[in-house]
Amino acid sequence: MNENILIDVKSLYKSYKLGKTKIEVLKDLNLEIEPGEWVALLGSSGSGKTTLLNQIGTLEKPDSGTISYDNKCYSKLSNRRAAKFRGTKIGFIFQAYHLLPELTVLENVLLPGQMLGRKKKELKNIATSLIDRVGLSHRIKHRPNELSGGEQQRASIARALVNDPELILADEPTGNLDSETGKGILQIFQDLHNSEEHNHTIIMVTHDRKIAELADRIIELKDGKIVAE
Ligand SMILES: Nc1ncnc2c1ncn2[C@@H]1O[C@H](COP(=O)(O)OP(=O)(O)OP(=O)(O)O)[C@@H](O)[C@H]1O
Ligand SMILES: [Mg+2]
Repeated sequence: MNENILIDVKSLYKSYKLGKTKIEVLKDLNLEIEPGEWVALLGSSGSGKTTLLNQIGTLEKPDSGTISYDNKCYSKLSNRRAAKFRGTKIGFIFQAYHLLPELTVLENVLLPGQMLGRKKKELKNIATSLIDRVGLSHRIKHRPNELSGGEQQRASIARALVNDPELILADEPTGNLDSETGKGILQIFQDLHNSEEHNHTIIMVTHDRKIAELADRIIELKDGKIVAE
């Protein structure tokens, strides 16, 4: 048991089959992340960053190897248990936002909390204050197609935080945004990281070294392995 390791990735292999071709994306990858760490995952396009994030987030299962969270192996959980694990522990921020188009900002942010069956009033208060925190109070009743890209990303950050996740997985959170809007998003990450009451662990994918340097540690992926830390 090592209390100083939150996520322990051991000898991870992941490949995809495309017709008869096997694409080996992650090859014997090893990684340890401490609780409260802000880690940047850096690598060129196609290096396997999203693939690694999907394995850590239990959205996909590895071919072999293990991923432990809090000293418990979770890479082999059943789909139902994996969904419960994700819902309670992880907040996802996707590059393409993935907001539900028919729901308003507030409804999108409420959704992960409703899935856990949380009390309505308490949940609404939390969602409203998170929307305020990301600077979207004036857009609370808007639907995603009535928002700018930066506003959609901020809504998706509020949604990721609604269940107060221990782990935040962010895939190119500023990838589609102009640099000013991107700075605003990165400020939210910095505030989260520095906030006293919360001890979020953050894994942030980026291909921009300048952005990666904001994190505590840079992990660089190349040819399916970690090359530099
Ligand atoms: N579902 C899939 N089926 C087949 N191949 C896939 C699949 N998902 C990813 N790949 C391949 O795996 C490799 C790694 O993809 P991945 O999305 O992890 O890269 P990435 O580092 O996130 O790149 P980017 O910076 O462009 O987002 C790529 O060559 C990609 O084509
Ligand atoms: Mg990617």
